[in-house]
Amino acid sequence: MTRATLRRSTEPAHDIPGVGTMKAIVQDEYGSAPEDVLRLAEVARPSIGDDGILVRVRAASVDRGTWHVMAGLPYPMRLAGFGLRRPKALNPGRSVAGTVESVGKDVTAFKPGDEVYGAAEGVFAEYAVAEAKRLALKPANLSFEQAAAVPISGMTALQAVRDQAKVEAGQKVLIIGASGGVGTFAVQIAKAYGAEVTGVSSTAKVDLVRALGADHVVDYSQEDPSDGEHRYDAILDMGGNRRLSQLRRALTPGGRLVIVGGENGGRWIGGFDRGIRAQLLSPFVGQKLGSLMASENSEDLMVLRDLLEAGTITSAIDRTYPLADVPAAIRHLIDGHARGKVVITV
Ligand SMILES: NC(=O)c1ccc[n+]([C@@H]2O[C@H](COP(=O)([O-])OP(=O)(O)OC[C@H]3O[C@@H](n4cnc5c(N)ncnc54)[C@H](OP(=O)(O)O)[C@@H]3O)[C@@H](O)[C@H]2O)c1
Repeated sequence: MTRATLRRSTEPAHDIPGVGTMKAIVQDEYGSAPEDVLRLAEVARPSIGDDGILVRVRAASVDRGTWHVMAGLPYPMRLAGFGLRRPKALNPGRSVAGTVESVGKDVTAFKPGDEVYGAAEGVFAEYAVAEAKRLALKPANLSFEQAAAVPISGMTALQAVRDQAKVEAGQKVLIIGASGGVGTFAVQIAKAYGAEVTGVSSTAKVDLVRALGADHVVDYSQEDPSDGEHRYDAILDMGGNRRLSQLRRALTPGGRLVIVGGENGGRWIGGFDRGIRAQLLSPFVGQKLGSLMASENSEDLMVLRDLLEAGTITSAIDRTYPLADVPAAIRHLIDGHARGKVVITV
């Protein structure tokens, strides 16, 4: 069985007999400024192997991970398979919604014409190759744009709330970074589990977090949510710049801390240092301290689809950008302007 192959070539397709072309964002080298390393080009369509699924991309979305994949930072990511010297994927897009164009001979779960959403590589393009294990049928009530906002942020939020924080009805949950891609889903999922949710955001996004259903909203420029005045059964930290000792002060004696992210850790360790220290400390204290490494899988996409179709959760979309403006979309996010998700229409 051959693996699905994403043709990374940026050559014009007339150099590759029998292969059609597509518009795609392409990236040849790592760099932290999207305007410098990403460009729109006409390239060969990817080909699929026996277990590959060719998706006609209708929409994609941007998240903090998009920037990390683009920049190749922190450096251990490069060792983890994203490409040692230069990016392996055509572009850093990974959350997608679209229509199945064709499938390899070993694929039974999907057929041409299916509307799907999920995680794949190089999705800032008219076509992308996906694997069945990271794809699911798109929620029927969502547009492609709304569906594309979900995959990586939604799966991360679900796993943080359900699997690591193990949120139960009636618990008090603090969500730091409630206005971001992961946080906007986490607020709604924690509410769906019956928690009393306190969301933390900047002043300009307090209204968004409240509209998503948070019972309380803390503006971090006015108040420190980890000052110890309130205690929480679970804390999900996507904001990333509070010390472990501070976060522990705001947890109940048996509470759970889930470190999801943070952008302050530098080029080598990124936000991982707090997570590692949390895991090392956890066996010696009453609180459960840990960090999340989200997995991309179709089972969780199905769980999210049920929640979306029931109207229990929704995508909070800030803006949509056309394919050519992917660099501007990433810039909007990394400059801290995004309220929820930033989506690319293809
Ligand atoms: N572990 C995993 O598997 C995994 C998966 C996905 C993402 N992540 C990580 O999780 C983090 C969030 O990702 P995302 O896509 O949700 O990013 P995002 O959309 O950019 O959201 C970032 C959030 O952090 C908040 N924030 C920024 N400064 C803050 C501060 N000083 N205090 C409190 N909150 C602050 C922002 O609030 P305002 O905008 O209101 O300032 C926003 O809500 C990133 O570090 C990302 O790399 C990890």
